[in-house]
Amino acid sequence: MILSLDQGTTSSRAILFDQEAGMVSQGQYEIRQSFPRPGWVEHDPDQIWETQLAAAREAISESGRPAAEVSAIGITNQRETALVWDKATGRPIYPAIVWQDRRTAGQCEELKGRGLADTIAAKTGLVVDAYFSATKLAWILDHVPGARARAEQGELLGGTIDAWLIWKLTGGAVHATDVTNASRTMLYNLHERRWDEELMEELRIPRAILPEVRMSGGDFGTAGSEWFGEEIPIRSVLGDQQAALFGHTCLEAGSAKNTYGTGCFILMNTGNEAVASSHGLLTTVAWGMGDELYYALEGSVFVAGAAVQWLHEGLGLIEGPADSEEKAGEVEDSEGVVVVPAFTGLGAPYWDMYARGAVFGLTRGTTAGHLVRATLESLAFQSRDVIGAMEKDAGMPLTGLRVDGGAVRNDLLMQFQADILGSEVTRTMYAETTALGAALLAGLTSGVWTREQLESFNKAEKIFAPSMEAEERERRYHAWQDAVSRTMGWEKH
Ligand code: G3P
Repeated sequence: MILSLDQGTTSSRAILFDQEAGMVSQGQYEIRQSFPRPGWVEHDPDQIWETQLAAAREAISESGRPAAEVSAIGITNQRETALVWDKATGRPIYPAIVWQDRRTAGQCEELKGRGLADTIAAKTGLVVDAYFSATKLAWILDHVPGARARAEQGELLGGTIDAWLIWKLTGGAVHATDVTNASRTMLYNLHERRWDEELMEELRIPRAILPEVRMSGGDFGTAGSEWFGEEIPIRSVLGDQQAALFGHTCLEAGSAKNTYGTGCFILMNTGNEAVASSHGLLTTVAWGMGDELYYALEGSVFVAGAAVQWLHEGLGLIEGPADSEEKAGEVEDSEGVVVVPAFTGLGAPYWDMYARGAVFGLTRGTTAGHLVRATLESLAFQSRDVIGAMEKDAGMPLTGLRVDGGAVRNDLLMQFQADILGSEVTRTMYAETTALGAALLAGLTSGVWTREQLESFNKAEKIFAPSMEAEERERRYHAWQDAVSRTMGWEKH
């Protein structure tokens, strides 16, 4: 069996997979979200570790099989979330600062003001934003008394959640991260494949706190027998969105996945080439295996499932997200209604923090059904915006989209997604694509599976083929783009 540890933003989960990559058992614990000030989001690193350990132990005991049957551990994690701990005691010196936290927006403005945006984009593939880890690490060093001096003396260790879990599991023997997590820090040079001297200096991050960067499929040490009664080697580590891409076996350039959660995370494999974006996307490492790095283009939509939640909690139009398909099915189509859910501005490819939500095309005949349908359609339109940008950047067409996340159960939405993209949308058998991805990579690395076998594991459950006429598709998409353009900059009024 392979044990997959999936440390996410809201919970720590562990899933055991058998030799056919079938799910054997699982454990899951929620983690606390702290919002100490507006725009701040923190997690307790000790609780992250304790819940992750408990979830893993539960998965093993639920399986009814001995830990000796677990041949490898794969780790996947919420990305960008950063922490610093004391090398000698193992105590975190401050809570983990979560990827959603905006407290370092000012530092990012300052970096841009110093003309560093182009250098950072060229070296790391990222836009300068508080989302990434580096400014979070610097913030901790600047605000915990004495931390910066201690860091420079080599008394502190830092990193992302993967580095923390590896260090805990190996009893402090390994302080390492993988290339995907490193590529989300704003410190990792994608081309030279190492922490970048100039960026460490400009962002004021002492080299001594950073973990060693290893390939995602590789040797990350061994979880000590004190945790599971047996020693278990750690054989894969990768960020959760990259793990989902791997779990969908999007192993060829041009293949892409979309995870429909609160927002949407869309990643397209671009093969061995780090494609620079001129359309507002991120260039990121998809995974590293052997000596090779594989890259992806990534675009995030801020509000997706959150818009469906708004229909329920904000407007009371539906009884819950599961009710949205039936409600939308009450009408033939959205009858010209377009909902732009730019509640917190717009992400890729627009990047307008001043955009705000709007509803267009209302008539006296508009019903709740039209509004619900138009809101569901907005998830598909926003995904097309990102995928269109990817196709332009990569200079290659999408070879089909694989999907996971809560909203993919909604057939009406998936059909509309295929229609508006003009390409197939594949819903796979596994809902737990992220955990599966880490397990597949660990199994591949430790020789349990071959690459050919992987392709056969996450089979299609349902394929949605486009059925809308091309003319209709472009007419509708044009109306969407027109609507989006009218929401931009609205907050400045
Ligand atoms: O970039 C943030 C992402 O990795 C978080 O994913 O699924 O933990 O919300 P999730």
